[in-house]
Amino acid sequence: MVSSRLASLAFLISVTVVNAVSNGHCTETILPLSIIANNTEIKLSAPRSQMEVSDLVTRISSLTSNLTSEIVGGPRVNNATYRIWTQLCVPTKPDASKTVELAVHGAGFDHSYWNFGGDGSKYNYVEAVLKAGHSILIYDRLGTGQSDKPDGITEVQSPTEIEIAAQLVKYLRGSPKGNQFKRVIGIGHSFGSATLLGLVSKYGDVLDATILTGFAVAGGINYISYPAIGWTIASVQNPKRFGALPSSYVVSEGVSNSQHFFFHYGGYETAILNAAEAMKSTATLGELFVQLGAPALSYTKPVFVVTGDKDFAVCTGNCYQKFNGVNIVEATKQVFPAVAADKFSTWIPATTGHATNLHLSAPETYGKIQEWIGKL
Ligand SMILES: *[C@@H]1O[C@H](CO)[C@@H](O)[C@H](O)[C@H]1NC(C)=O
Ligand SMILES: *[C@@H]1O[C@H](CO)[C@@H](O)[C@H](O)[C@H]1NC(C)=O
Ligand SMILES: *[C@@H]1O[C@H](CO)[C@@H](O)[C@H](O)[C@H]1NC(C)=O
Repeated sequence: MVSSRLASLAFLISVTVVNAVSNGHCTETILPLSIIANNTEIKLSAPRSQMEVSDLVTRISSLTSNLTSEIVGGPRVNNATYRIWTQLCVPTKPDASKTVELAVHGAGFDHSYWNFGGDGSKYNYVEAVLKAGHSILIYDRLGTGQSDKPDGITEVQSPTEIEIAAQLVKYLRGSPKGNQFKRVIGIGHSFGSATLLGLVSKYGDVLDATILTGFAVAGGINYISYPAIGWTIASVQNPKRFGALPSSYVVSEGVSNSQHFFFHYGGYETAILNAAEAMKSTATLGELFVQLGAPALSYTKPVFVVTGDKDFAVCTGNCYQKFNGVNIVEATKQVFPAVAADKFSTWIPATTGHATNLHLSAPETYGKIQEWIGKL
């Protein structure tokens, strides 16, 4: 279970909206979450210009890069309370297992990655979940959407995001709004998948099952994708949307960069690429330049990895490349050594890039995910 050393989960401070949606209803709440995280001392100061950010990207994507070892210092405890925006959606007809999914979005998006397109959209994962009789909690990760946006180097880092996810699991196991859930399943996308790996790596079987989308760990992190997305200081890229953010917050440079990183040409609708660009969100230098990938040695529950065949960000565009005799997606088993072989599965949607939910294959992918959960 989540360590009792963690500060106890705080109370609900505001319910903003209750919405009826197809097959259920959703409640938005801002939760104050107290965490203690082992962040890393990062030897960088807030960039004074875009040239400094571009230089960091050049250095980390160099084939002989030493940047990580140059900027990583010792541990640095982050003891803080953050306001995190959440939305809990509960189905009209819950399944017998009273399942709730905890959805963790990736870098470049906020919670709306999971209900993309809104009511009736085939890209809306929340609707697929409610239709299957499951509840789902979506939230804005620290630094995005309507959640707090503290320092992007010292505070918004993976260890802090992992502790926030741990607090949300605790929240879901504590009958939020009178809903008693019997199983909590994590689903992540990209950096959100890495966050869930970090969660079960630290806390073991806190999730009853884990679904990692847009994710593969073979061969380490693909920093070649960083120049592709063209990380740009967010307040410079779009002063209207991001003008208030410190220079440690970055965003993709433009629509062609978003395509390069998240999409596979021929596998998506142009309107969806443009919509994703219009609602894009930020990442922080603290998240991007110090990443974790420790194996989940004590996690034994089922794992499902769902990554597009043409994912550029994690497979350099071809997830069927072999790694130790298996494809890159299957090779993710290496970070789950305690998961039995028959509890580890993969699905590789065809003609699909990194943003799995935003491709034409999304409805089929959602069907595969709900089918996998149904068989647990
Ligand atoms: C932080 O790291 C130290 C040393 O590795 C460990 O003893 C401690 O439990 C960690 N604290 C948290 C909150 O993870
Ligand atoms: C990286 O570090 C190693 C060992 O410290 C050194 O030999 C090498 O020249 C460095 N490479 C670069 C690109 O700085
Ligand atoms: C975290 O901060 C709180 C409030 O300032 C303090 O009471 C507590 O001792 C701190 N915990 C650690 C481990 O630093």
